[in-house]
Amino acid sequence: MILSTFAHESIEDVKKEATEPLWHATYLLKDRGECKAIMQRAEAAGYEAIVIVIDTPVMGARDRERRSQPKTVLFQYHPIDYYRFPVTWSDVEWYRAQTKLPLVLKGVMDPDDAEQCLQLGASAIIVSNHGGRNLDTTPATIEMLPAVVERVAGRVPVLIDGGIRRGTDVLKALALGATAVGIGRPYLYGLAVEGADGVKGVVNILRNELEMAMASTGRPTIASINRSVLAPQGLRPTARTWAT
Ligand SMILES: Cc1cc2nc3c(=O)[nH]c(=O)nc-3n(C[C@H](O)[C@H](O)[C@H](O)COP(=O)(O)O)c2cc1C
Repeated sequence: MILSTFAHESIEDVKKEATEPLWHATYLLKDRGECKAIMQRAEAAGYEAIVIVIDTPVMGARDRERRSQPKTVLFQYHPIDYYRFPVTWSDVEWYRAQTKLPLVLKGVMDPDDAEQCLQLGASAIIVSNHGGRNLDTTPATIEMLPAVVERVAGRVPVLIDGGIRRGTDVLKALALGATAVGIGRPYLYGLAVEGADGVKGVVNILRNELEMAMASTGRPTIASINRSVLAPQGLRPTARTWAT
C-alpha cells in the first residue's frame, strides 16, 4: 500500500496496523526540512520505498474538489501557486540524496520521461495521470502504457493506475506489460460503504474477477499473461482449460 503525505492517519500508526509492505508517497513541500523529516519517519518506521509524485507540479482545475471544499483556492481570485509542490528533475536528484530507500516515480505518461526517471535512479515507475484529476483531457494511462513499457525494456518494474475497475482491466494492463496495478477511487468507494470490510471486499472482487478472466482466457499463471490474450476490442476467450 502507498500512504500519501496527506493521509489522515500517521506514518507510524499505519505501519502498526499494516500486514503487507508499505511505500510512502512523499510530496516535495516548500519546507525541504519538513519533507526530509517525513521521509526519515517513513524510513525509520519500516516503509520500503519512497514514491515521488511528479505529475502535480501545480494543482489542476479540480471543479468537483472546489465544489465539495468551499475553502479550496479559487483561481479567479488567486494566482497559481507554482511553489507548492515544485518538482523538477533536479528536485528528484535532491530526493535521491536524502534517502537510502528505493525511489518510485509516479505520474509518468511519456517514454522520454520514463527514460529520465531511470537516469535519475528510479527503482520503478508508475504510469499514472493522477486519476485524470489534475489535467483535463489527459489520455488514459492504459493508452500510454505500451510506449512506456517498450522504452523501459524490463530495466525496472512498470506499474499503472487510473481507471482500474474490474479484473479484466487488471488482465489487460498485465498483458500490455505492467508489473502491477494500483487503485485509487475503488477502495475509497468500499471504505465509504462498509469501512475496512468494504476495502477488503473491493480487493477480493478485483482478485476474483482477475482469476475468472484468467480462466476464461486460458492463463493459469501471471507469467503466462501476454499480448496474445488481447482481442482488437477486448479480451480473447478460449475453450482451453487449465486442466488440459
Ligand atoms: C481523493 C483522491 C485523493 C488523492 N490523493 C493523492 C495524493 O495525495 N497523492 C497521490 O500521489 N495521488 C493521489 N491521488 C491519485 C491516486 O493516487 C491515483 O493515482 C488515482 O486515484 C488512480 O486512479 P483511480 O482513482 O481511477 O483508480 C488521489 C486520488 C483521489 C481520488
